[in-house]
Amino acid sequence: MNPPWQRLEAEGWRLSDDPARLDRHQVWRWLSLESAWSRGRSQAAVNTSLDQSLTVGVYDPAGRQRGVARCVTDRVAVAFIDDVHVDADHRGKGVGRWLVCGLLRHPQVRDIPQFTLVTDEAHAHYAASGFTSLAKIERWMQWRRDTGSAYTPDPWPRSAG
Ligand SMILES: CC(C)(COP(=O)(O)OP(=O)(O)OC[C@H]1O[C@@H](n2cnc3c(N)ncnc32)[C@H](O)[C@@H]1OP(=O)(O)O)[C@@H](O)C(=O)NCCC(=O)NCCS
Repeated sequence: MNPPWQRLEAEGWRLSDDPARLDRHQVWRWLSLESAWSRGRSQAAVNTSLDQSLTVGVYDPAGRQRGVARCVTDRVAVAFIDDVHVDADHRGKGVGRWLVCGLLRHPQVRDIPQFTLVTDEAHAHYAASGFTSLAKIERWMQWRRDTGSAYTPDPWPRSAG
């Protein structure tokens, strides 16, 4: 089966994991201004998240960044995909699949048996790359700062002021 981004690649579009290529201001605009889950995130926070993750971008033939995705990972056991965003003018031509497959098949995470993610409405997008709903949802737990904190004494000393 031909990858959905084959035509783009032939036209000179590229997938890259080079942090130096990232257009950090553009990524900030997408995440902070256009995406509900990361609205209001600062440029500094975006930079930290990009640097602390395995981050990939897709670039058009002129070198302009048209999409981003990152994988929060220890490169050994855990891999969580987050902040997948494609420029609104370039959706529907395979950029999203390219980004997701670029993470799932990346050499640094090739031996990790399972990737997870959270999505409100783009299930079909991830299903196209092989994602399914959680198989054993009863095994998963979450801790939320707004509710869990009440049960969680803080063992870390705070400096006064
Ligand atoms: C979701 C998103 C990343 C998809 O990127 P894209 O480049 O348009 O996706 P592709 O062209 O690679 O499409 C791949 C498949 O996903 C489907 N798809 C794309 N966007 C979708 C969406 N929002 N919901 C459901 N399915 C979607 C396409 O129909 C396509 O299926 P097909 O191959 O059977 O035709 C893009 O729409 C986007 O950036 N949306 C805003 C941010 C967002 O919602 N990100 C996901 C957060 S979890």
